Amino acid sequence: MGAKDIGAAGPRHVAIIMDGNGRWAQSRGRPRLFGHHAGARRVREIVEACPANGVKYLTIFAFSTENWKRTQTEVAGLMSLFRRYIMKEMQDFVRQNVRVRFIGDRVRLDEKLRSLMDEAEELTSHCTGTNLTIALNYGGRDEVARATQRLAQDVADGRLKPEDVDEETLPKYLDTCVLPDPDLVIRTSGEARISNFLLWQSAYAEYEFIDTLWPDFTKDVFHKLVSSYGSRERRYGGVKA
Ligand code: FPP
Repeated sequence: MGAKDIGAAGPRHVAIIMDGNGRWAQSRGRPRLFGHHAGARRVREIVEACPANGVKYLTIFAFSTENWKRTQTEVAGLMSLFRRYIMKEMQDFVRQNVRVRFIGDRVRLDEKLRSLMDEAEELTSHCTGTNLTIALNYGGRDEVARATQRLAQDVADGRLKPEDVDEETLPKYLDTCVLPDPDLVIRTSGEARISNFLLWQSAYAEYEFIDTLWPDFTKDVFHKLVSSYGSRERRYGGVKA
């Protein structure tokens, strides 16, 4: 199937758990950060491949609320990579008509990174092409807890009645409130776990767990996964029509 043929049958929203950077680097006798840098280059390739694959929303897991447990060197290296990545790619996103958003708790991120995130969101706010969402200091449970705090505050202030809280209301408080739910969630590197990623939003997503390490994840692999999604049948708990 060619890229143009995927069309309406393909996933509109693809979310990716980019795993395997560390192993990729270590197998080459290089430090883990070398793998993260290679991973960042793949992000660029996959963002560029979205329009041809009919993918309108791409959400990537860049740093989880659990990743702070890594060594100080790795955490600092990743934060520096994110800063440089945003600085370097910002103009390119505008050129490619990519709208950038960030999800996750920004409070723990450093001032400089936070202001770059704000700048990238602002600068690309008029873009109408691919919607790229980068999950940074993101955890699904943390997101639900933060959403619940805001929701509880609205109840306490009389803006919301407890009996009005339902499946439509709660997602309006999530970081992803402006995004559709993901249709396809991909995890690289052979691990079959979802690691706290988009817990609420992925209730009906299809999953693909593949052995490829993230720095080896090419646009051809992406195309193959997106194409094979089109042949699956999603019933959302119902029966075949
Ligand atoms: C998981 O691989 C990857 C991460 C925790 C970081 C993801 C970051 C990137 C792909 C870098 C670029 C991202 C952006 C947005 C610029 P791992 O280190 O857990 O690999 P391992 O399981 O082999 O150790």
